[in-house]
Amino acid sequence: MWRVLALWLACIGQAVAQDAVQRGEYLVHAGGCVSCHTVPNGTPFAGGRALATPFGTFYSPNITPDMETGIGRWTDAQFLQALRQGRRPDGASYYPVFPYPSFTNISEADALAIKAYLFSLPPVQQANRAHDVGFPFSWRFLQTGWRLLFFREGPFSADPSHNATYNRGAYLVTALAHCSECHTPRNMLGAVKPSLALAGTRDGPDGQPVPNITPDRATGIGDWDTSDIVALLKTGRTPEQGAVKGAMREAVRDGLKFLTDADLQAIATYLQAQKPVAAR
Ligand code: HEC
Ligand code: HEC
Repeated sequence: MWRVLALWLACIGQAVAQDAVQRGEYLVHAGGCVSCHTVPNGTPFAGGRALATPFGTFYSPNITPDMETGIGRWTDAQFLQALRQGRRPDGASYYPVFPYPSFTNISEADALAIKAYLFSLPPVQQANRAHDVGFPFSWRFLQTGWRLLFFREGPFSADPSHNATYNRGAYLVTALAHCSECHTPRNMLGAVKPSLALAGTRDGPDGQPVPNITPDRATGIGDWDTSDIVALLKTGRTPEQGAVKGAMREAVRDGLKFLTDADLQAIATYLQAQKPVAAR
């Protein structure tokens, strides 16, 4: 009798764990983790991808569960601290090229599902490559000042004056899918400018321009229907049937296209409800 019960409980435990892994895979798609943590044609999540910024070139770390070169020894608490507080296990700050200023808004349950998925993958042994950033940005402890100025710790809280679809969109855009990290201009210290949220920038990833996605008619996407936005996130095609290039092509290919229609609709709903900002 007890053995049957124990077996039954073990099965439930496994089903719950399996469920977290599947949810985690979906959330990893929404978070675009693979694009930054994988070199072109490399093993997913093994790191080493060069990320060029005005401050120098950063190399993403290995986030597979390898015990020596990855994050295989990390506890849940250390993983939450990295994503939601932008701190390494030793307490030092990450550089904001790791979009923790957005990821801080991820819920604890979602962050732990992401960890469950990453830890279900085979470990890959590949040592991390040191960042190539010049003085004074090479001084990681200066990030403490940056955090004081620009970092607002999450998590996301829903706005009760809006419906569930809008709030789901807000969570995806501002936390997991971190659209602002590319679509919002940055100041001289590399922090996004909140007043110009999603209004586009000339200096996006790899120095490429990123368009205005606020509902401004002249300079943004005010003429687009909800279905146009959903189609772009799913297929990478604009209403004029052109294909998006560069970082957006990757964002669609590596993540956004896997999202459910309900989530893509939610993203579009949130974008269309933002205040139009005129900016070229
Ligand atoms: C825009 C690129 C980018 C995206 C997107 C991104 N990361 Fe990272 N990540 C980085 C970089 C760069 C670092 C290293 C930052 C540093 O050294 O200060 C990092 C660090 C990390 C670390 C710490 C690893 C260590 O060894 O200290 C974890 C964990 C992590 N990322 C997980 C994720 C997860 C999970 C996602 C998706 C939800 C994600 N990252 C999305 C660029 C990115
Ligand atoms: C890694 C950087 C990056 C991220 C993250 C990102 N985008 Fe983009 N996005 C771009 C770039 C670059 C372009 C321009 C592509 C081109 O030139 O073809 C673009 C183009 C677009 C366009 C087309 C606009 C137009 O006028 O043609 C839309 C809509 C869009 N992004 C929405 C989003 C949404 C919504 C998110 C978050 C779910 C997001 N993007 C996340 C970089 C990014």
